[in-house]
Amino acid sequence: MAPGGEVNLETVNTNGKINGKVHYSNGHKTNGTHHKYGHDLDWRSSWWESFEETPLYAAVWTYLGYGLLVLVGHIRDFMRNIGIESQKSCTEPKLPGFVPLYQSWESFYTRNLYRRIRDCWNRPICSVAGEYMDVMERKTYDNGWNFELTDKSQRVMNFGSYNYLGFSENKGPCKDAVEIVTSQYGITSGGSRQELGYLDIHKELDDLVAQYLGVEAAMTVPMGFATNSMNMPCLVSKGCLIFSDELNHASLVLGSRLTGATIKTYKHNDMEDLEKKLKQAVVHGQPRTHRPWKKILIVVEGVWSMEGSVVCLPEVLRLKKKYKAYIYLDEAHSIGAMGPRGRGVVDYFGIDPRDIDIMMGTFTKSFGSAGGYIGGTRKLINHLRCNSHAAVYSPSMPPPVAQQIISSMKIIMGKDGTGEGQRRISQLRDNVRYFRRRLHEMGFIIYGNKDSPVVPLLLFMPAKIACFSRECLKRGLGTVVVGFPATPIIESRARFCLSAAHTREMVDKALDIIDEVGTLLKLKYSLQLHGRFFTMLSECYGKEVLRWPTSFGIRETKEVNIDQNIL
Ligand SMILES: Cc1ncc(COP(=O)(O)O)c(C=O)c1O
Repeated sequence: MAPGGEVNLETVNTNGKINGKVHYSNGHKTNGTHHKYGHDLDWRSSWWESFEETPLYAAVWTYLGYGLLVLVGHIRDFMRNIGIESQKSCTEPKLPGFVPLYQSWESFYTRNLYRRIRDCWNRPICSVAGEYMDVMERKTYDNGWNFELTDKSQRVMNFGSYNYLGFSENKGPCKDAVEIVTSQYGITSGGSRQELGYLDIHKELDDLVAQYLGVEAAMTVPMGFATNSMNMPCLVSKGCLIFSDELNHASLVLGSRLTGATIKTYKHNDMEDLEKKLKQAVVHGQPRTHRPWKKILIVVEGVWSMEGSVVCLPEVLRLKKKYKAYIYLDEAHSIGAMGPRGRGVVDYFGIDPRDIDIMMGTFTKSFGSAGGYIGGTRKLINHLRCNSHAAVYSPSMPPPVAQQIISSMKIIMGKDGTGEGQRRISQLRDNVRYFRRRLHEMGFIIYGNKDSPVVPLLLFMPAKIACFSRECLKRGLGTVVVGFPATPIIESRARFCLSAAHTREMVDKALDIIDEVGTLLKLKYSLQLHGRFFTMLSECYGKEVLRWPTSFGIRETKEVNIDQNIL
């Protein structure tokens, strides 16, 4: 089959059997006997996600803030056009008869809104992005059009990197092993997997990843983004239907588009919406001909990195089975960070990994390295090895990068015999629950699941995005802020990423800073602190809503739950 050709998943899914034998390497047994959640309701009873609605007054002030900025932007553009203010942005020559090629709302937004607070993004650092980092000082003399580096840097706590298990470090056993491999192999393999670039270290890595995931086989790719965008086209094509969560990552969006299949999105993590759309798809089939879809693929992430939400995997699996669809699970943010053994959301819910048709993940987050993997049945992986553009046309993973993954993965699996991996997993979990609970108590609006290492804190107003970032940095806390268009206009946020490398003292210090800045900027918007709101919601929606991720999370009720689980 030509590269990019399609495989029949029906024949590929051999139910985990090799030569008639079932292989377990992940502590799971078949038939669900070892599943943590034997009954469908069990997982919901310990489920807690909070998505408190934007308070009306915050929404109104946010719109007014953006409105004012747009108005001032138009006035400044006018002044630039008539030469009162100097034009520093790239302008397009006005060609008679031509429509503008690139002048758009986007460039207006960048020029007039983003540029004013540009210092809050792309801050250069000059150290390892570990639990601390050195942020280089920059100065702008023209309101963010240009930056100059001074020779100074500031050491701050790093709450912005996806360093979930703290393996982003320049000392320790991983670094030592990488050093040896670099002197043995050099930096590059010099070829693609199919063109003599497949070395023994790649075989070792593929096998280890398969063992780690508890699947028959795995294929690793040097880039996480390409793992999605280059492998998805080998799995589905025209005549197939993809159901994609509306907040899926760009690599999944691109990968889906490259397949040529029909793509439908459903509301974020909303299983009712997914079921409704699945039902319609199965009943009506393809447009015009009404033939059944060749394949239906549900594409989800384990943890969504902008929302901190966790996929309702047991429910997706139920729907997948009911409607005979396939599931593609991207565990970029959950592998290593979720589950009692750090094996991702599959481990978190106690699900048999072989129930997932295509397991995908990246090594950039929990493993402190680079690249991605696809795991599944041997047949599926063999198909990808032969046909994926990532295997045919791109060089294989650099050996030192592969070694970093091998070393960190072995530590997580406990193969080094130290228990360090398990310690890091527990430390991350404790940090996450403690950090989230304290922020809720302080009265901030926090999104996401109680176990998600990504913690979005809602800021709402454009001016507060910049103030929050600058004030935190001033006090020694480095974090990420995100605004429109990366979020809906009224949901700008700061996004904290917890790490196993953070000590309790660091977490406490960070919380003190957030508390201080939050009070200064009046960011404690949560209405859940007030009993009236809580009572109203409980009356309106009943208890079910407390557990259902697309709804409001009610802090008062579930706090008991968090307290019981913490430490
Ligand atoms: C869900 C998801 N998938 C894939 C990727 C791409 O991974 P990488 O950055 O390793 O290329 C990311 C990146 O953050 C991601 O969040």
